[in-house]
Amino acid sequence: MKTLLKIQSSIFSDGGQSTQLADRFVAAWREANPDGDVVVRDLAKEPVPHLDAARFGAFLAKAEDRTPAQRDAVAYSDALIAELKDADVVVLGLPLYNFGLPSTLKAYFDHVGRAGVTFRYTEKGPVGLLTGKKVYVFAARGGFYAGTPNDTQTPYIRAFLSFIGMNDIEFVYAEGLARGEESKQQGIARARAEVDRLARAEREPEFAVA
Ligand SMILES: Cc1cc2nc3c(=O)[nH]c(=O)nc-3n(C[C@H](O)[C@H](O)[C@H](O)COP(=O)(O)O)c2cc1C
Repeated sequence: MKTLLKIQSSIFSDGGQSTQLADRFVAAWREANPDGDVVVRDLAKEPVPHLDAARFGAFLAKAEDRTPAQRDAVAYSDALIAELKDADVVVLGLPLYNFGLPSTLKAYFDHVGRAGVTFRYTEKGPVGLLTGKKVYVFAARGGFYAGTPNDTQTPYIRAFLSFIGMNDIEFVYAEGLARGEESKQQGIARARAEVDRLARAEREPEFAVA
């Protein structure tokens, strides 16, 4: 049985454009995987706390030396990592806020990027440990950024996820959503078509064409 983890980070929760695109993909995935399991992590409804020195200190402390508070902090991070580890497919709803990713998503990343747990350093450099997953990113933006130097999200998301071993990543962009109704409808329609294409490719790999 396959597991899909949907991580949504819109401040509008289920109403966000990025969430709605992610949901469109998840609906198609459910149809193709009737026995599959879908797990939802909504970072607006259940925000992950900012990483601070106390939490980071807990990660670094030896297991046997951890205080009860440190053990709680590590258990919380471990649970987020276990959820990610269990997923075969990861779907990420990614809004653009003030030229970057939502701060809730950064806080989540700060809890799942753990030396010795999700990556380790070797003589040949860092090695990601969360391998064998397919990632779909559904990005929603008010303006137009994809393929330009102002797209801070695509290289960052690729760099971070690859660092922890997740390097098979597809991006779908819904852009121009704040440039008037016509632009918004066009952006959404294009993105939906792309979502449908990826859902079909996931279902029937023989049809996967670039
Ligand atoms: C607080 C905030 C900041 C935003 N900053 C930007 C921005 O820097 N550039 C941009 O193109 N759109 C910006 N937008 C528009 C969003 O990218 C757009 O509304 C998108 O649909 C957000 O995704 P969501 O609907 O999934 O939340 C911003 C929207 C909000 C609410």
